[in-house]
Amino acid sequence: MRLSLRFVLPLLLVLAGIAYAVAPLIDQLTLGWFVRDLDSRSALIANTIQEPLLEQLAAGKKVKIQDFFNRITQDERLYAVGYCAAATAKILASRSLPAEIQCPQLERWQNPGRHLLPSAQGPLHIAVRPMTSAATADVAALPGQLVLVHDMSFITRRSEESKRYLFYVFMALGAAVSLITVIVAQLSWRGWMAGVRALLRGEGLLRRPEAHAPPSLPGFKPIARDLQRLISELESENRARDESQLTWTPETLRTILHGELRGEDVIVVSNREPYIHQRRGERVEVQRPASGLVTALEPIMRACSGTWIAHGSGSADREVVDKNDHVAVPPENPAYQIRRVWLTPEEEAGYYYGFANEGLWPLCHIAHVRPIFRSSDWAQYIAVNRKFAQAVMSEAKTKNPIVLVQDYHFALLPKMIRDELPEATIISFWHIPWPNPESFAICPWREEILAGMLGSSIMGFHTQFHCNNFVDTVDRFLEARVDRASFNVSFGGKLTAVRRYPISIAWPPDAELLQKSVPDCRRDIRQMNDLPPEHKLGIGVDRLDYTKGILERFRAIERLLELNPDWIGRFTFVQIAAPTRSGIDEYQHHEAQVRTLAARINARFERRGPAPIGLKIEQHAPPQVYEYFRAADLCFVSSLHDGMNLVAKEFVAARDDERGVLILSEFTGAARELPEALIVNPYDADQCAAALHLALSMTDVEQRDRMRLMRGLVAEFNVFRWAGRMLLDAATKRRHNRLTDKPDLLI
Ligand code: F6P
Repeated sequence: MRLSLRFVLPLLLVLAGIAYAVAPLIDQLTLGWFVRDLDSRSALIANTIQEPLLEQLAAGKKVKIQDFFNRITQDERLYAVGYCAAATAKILASRSLPAEIQCPQLERWQNPGRHLLPSAQGPLHIAVRPMTSAATADVAALPGQLVLVHDMSFITRRSEESKRYLFYVFMALGAAVSLITVIVAQLSWRGWMAGVRALLRGEGLLRRPEAHAPPSLPGFKPIARDLQRLISELESENRARDESQLTWTPETLRTILHGELRGEDVIVVSNREPYIHQRRGERVEVQRPASGLVTALEPIMRACSGTWIAHGSGSADREVVDKNDHVAVPPENPAYQIRRVWLTPEEEAGYYYGFANEGLWPLCHIAHVRPIFRSSDWAQYIAVNRKFAQAVMSEAKTKNPIVLVQDYHFALLPKMIRDELPEATIISFWHIPWPNPESFAICPWREEILAGMLGSSIMGFHTQFHCNNFVDTVDRFLEARVDRASFNVSFGGKLTAVRRYPISIAWPPDAELLQKSVPDCRRDIRQMNDLPPEHKLGIGVDRLDYTKGILERFRAIERLLELNPDWIGRFTFVQIAAPTRSGIDEYQHHEAQVRTLAARINARFERRGPAPIGLKIEQHAPPQVYEYFRAADLCFVSSLHDGMNLVAKEFVAARDDERGVLILSEFTGAARELPEALIVNPYDADQCAAALHLALSMTDVEQRDRMRLMRGLVAEFNVFRWAGRMLLDAATKRRHNRLTDKPDLLI
């Protein structure tokens, strides 16, 4: 209402001003008209009465003339009549003639514009008309002049009346215009406010019109775009500020999902499932796979619910699912669903063992194992990606679900989903390194793989280095527009944001894993491995994979004992190696090499005390792994190339006593985040041996200082932040998409 008054008050003031200025003008105008009318009327009367008047004058009947004059002035308007025979004569007039009108002063009323005489009852109009005789055309012989006086008080009355009407008209006009102004202003304001609110909600003005929605106003688009830009800037500022203040927890993720993403369901797709049901005789056992991907995503799914689509690889997997191939997990406290996808042995051989792990895995890791590309594997890879795409379609509850596609097993999946669900938000994460364009070039289906990945809304990697390599590769092999300032790739009319999301682990770690005290862990693990209580212990935990640098690690241990024989019999390195991909020749060969090398080194140094290497080629559950971490003096991660390596972060998380030293390969993503570790080149045995010696001799104070810094970083950059940042970016994308005609805006 206050807003409307701002329109109406000035409007009324302007109208009143106009009325005030116009009234005298109208007065003047109407007075002129009336005077002209009275002039004409006077002429008419003079013409009418002069004949009888002349006759009476000729007869010298002055009294009759006065009677005649008195009679005709009974007319409502004609106030008085007089007759002057000459300028010096006495005026012969009706009774009502004002005294100011005398024959000698008649000239005074004859000048133009001088016809008015004020009087007590109002103005009088005086007209002086010369008498003419039809009988004579001689002007000199004209018999005097007639004076006709009209009452003009009716003009004052009419002027008052017109002013009153004028006032009413302006009042009505003012009211009508005000009403219209208020209505229009209110409607426009409401519409505009609704638009702005929609914009702030992330809907609105730039959205493609839906069938039932009113068309958007083209005039608003530039404003909307500016506003949208402003909102984005504010959002990123707020996010930067919030993130720096935020402790990322499962609750934070839930808040993002229900706030930013309006409770949307999240669909995760990965090859490896988080819980594997295995038949062991009569029993069904639930296994947790040794997988960084599972370690990272499982806490996210516990927090977010949703559906995790994965390959059902366990021997009892089919027995526990419902008719839709769903099983609720974790078994002890179900929080989300696994949707299992079944693969034939041929599909698994071609897609998983073949193309993914004999082709893409060595291609991306550059660990000097030649990639093998077979067209039969490629065909299975396409078929299985399609199978998973169908599973996504059947699990999606809306036309724009949020799909988190995991890893190199599904390079083609983003585009397949995009083709079916163009409005889906697809966030893909590549858990392994991305090589430089020259290395990637050897893949016979490089263009198809890149195009498949660019079906994603966001393509995530662990490090900026991998993002750079990916963008360079796209630039080299596709007809795509690469914006290096924003790291957005435009391909086939769609935009993909290439982003760095360093993966991590849950923080704080599960309390159960830290339940046993460090001294107890030290004692028990040493007893379990027949080691004396003060024996120095190193730990390595990996899948038995050639990229993990286990051979290089053993060579470094051998070199340590060569260079510092004091450690012989006083130091043992326990290597936990989870068997993996054992259907692949290269992995079988690698396992044999690892066993042989460990045996050779042990044989060389064993006679002077406990064996230097304790090789445990078996799967260990997280509590056992954490017990080793807490018992150890050092942890050695010597990957030849690794996207991130979560073992490094888990070791840090396990050490709430702020002791223990981490030796970390410079070729892991983790090395970029944990510079307080002893960073080594695993190919340099001497350097690694020196790092081992340094770790074994490091003072408690230095161990504490380094560990404290690393723990601070892992706590802050935990896995909830990893997922939360992706979900926030997804939310921003979805909001931008709603605001624009373009399906994928820059973020
Ligand atoms: O390191 C890449 C990766 O996919 C991880 O994300 C995961 O931990 C590991 O490989 C698991 O491999 P697989 O599923 O073949 O056992």
